[in-house]
Amino acid sequence: MDRPRVTIFDTTLRDGEQSPGCSMNVQEKLRLAHQLDRLGVDVIEAGFPIASDGDFEAVQGISAAVRRPIIAGLARACTGDVDRAWQALQGAAHPRIHVFLATSDIHLKYKLRITREQCLEQARDAVRHAKSLCADVEFSPEDATRTDVAFLCQVVGAVIAAGATTVNIPDTVGYSMPEEYGQLIRTLREKVAGIDKVTISTHCHNDLGLAVANSLAGVQQGARQVECTINGIGERAGNAALEEIVMAMRVRPDRYAYEAGVASEHLFASSQMLAEITRVPVQPNKAITGRNAFAHEAGIHQDGMLKNPLTYEIMTPQSVGVPDSRLVLGKHSGRHALALRCEQLGHQFERRELDEVYRRFVVLADRIKKVQDSHLLELIQDVVKGNASNSDAPSSESKKFPPAAVALPLPRSAVAAAGANANESHPAQVSAGAGQAQAQPGPAPTNWFGGGVPAPIADHHGDQEDYLWGV
Ligand code: KIV
Ligand code: ZN
Repeated sequence: MDRPRVTIFDTTLRDGEQSPGCSMNVQEKLRLAHQLDRLGVDVIEAGFPIASDGDFEAVQGISAAVRRPIIAGLARACTGDVDRAWQALQGAAHPRIHVFLATSDIHLKYKLRITREQCLEQARDAVRHAKSLCADVEFSPEDATRTDVAFLCQVVGAVIAAGATTVNIPDTVGYSMPEEYGQLIRTLREKVAGIDKVTISTHCHNDLGLAVANSLAGVQQGARQVECTINGIGERAGNAALEEIVMAMRVRPDRYAYEAGVASEHLFASSQMLAEITRVPVQPNKAITGRNAFAHEAGIHQDGMLKNPLTYEIMTPQSVGVPDSRLVLGKHSGRHALALRCEQLGHQFERRELDEVYRRFVVLADRIKKVQDSHLLELIQDVVKGNASNSDAPSSESKKFPPAAVALPLPRSAVAAAGANANESHPAQVSAGAGQAQAQPGPAPTNWFGGGVPAPIADHHGDQEDYLWGV
């Protein structure tokens, strides 16, 4: 039976970027937008065009370059904002104007200093104006969960009549409880005329750590769009984490029988890319993408894992793109292994670029024996920035990269391939020392998930993992 489709609306580049220390420049936003496209999100909220020239350029640039998903631009409920958003979205293949206006009494009284009647009129007028420009219009009553429910129903009904195609219900301050949030969605569905013709969306903040639970509760009550961010970044305690929403639906279809169009095997690379760009590391115990999410420390757990990974893992690392085995990247490594590791770190290269990365990698590996992720990332950044010509300056590089001897994770399929080829003196070196996964020649055994059974991991917390995960 077909499962209902839930639209994944990624707001990493807008709400996510609003979190302290997470601002990104236009190039960085563009790079992340391409990764979100690879990940398969349905909507990318690319920015708030009236907020700054940089935001405008980012929305404009992403609109021109990323053609598959819907590109949304945020606007307050006034003509100037809506016009500016529409201007930035001109080149988009699938543009969306996202209009918002606070509706709670607390915001009306202290922030906006307008009456409910004025609020209703302003929301209706702004949506009508947006609709005159763009067929796809989303409206968000900011602080919806602290808004008088009867008034919220009135506003939602008015914006639907004015042409909104998506109605988003933000828990702006992360105040709601899951049952309560689900009930609010249910009430709107029961009370608002025309709501069955539009998409209801969730937008939950994490101030009480309930953003994902609230979003899922909303979906269970009929919401069909979830607004979320990579690594859960966002204002204050953040937004609902995209990777957690997607994997909850995938791991528990018995409870959440909904389909998201996200390619989950790109989740880890997306998380790493964001951490690298913002330099905000992923917390170690972060669900799905934290460095401990697939690490097993206790002897009893390790024993269980070796007998059958189902004892302690509810999803395979591979299903979210986490490499679970390690490959030493040294001077004998091949282009294939290097390209794969670059990809795992969120960088895909054209052949010529890869040649340059490889050339510099070999020079470096000759000097420092084993190349860590942090080294590789620096090297990649140099190549991307066009500093390749400095690559032959041995003294500066030896200063930049201290000697080290480490192993790097690699997906099981690649380890198996590398292991098989190692017997035929393939350049890839599969680590076999203490603390490193043993590569098994031949096909890797599969578990109930259809993935590979992890090889023994004696030391899951080597220093190198800090480099690997914490970039
Ligand atoms: O949290 C919020 O209310 C928002 C709106 C602008 C959608 O981010
Ligand atoms: Zn928000």
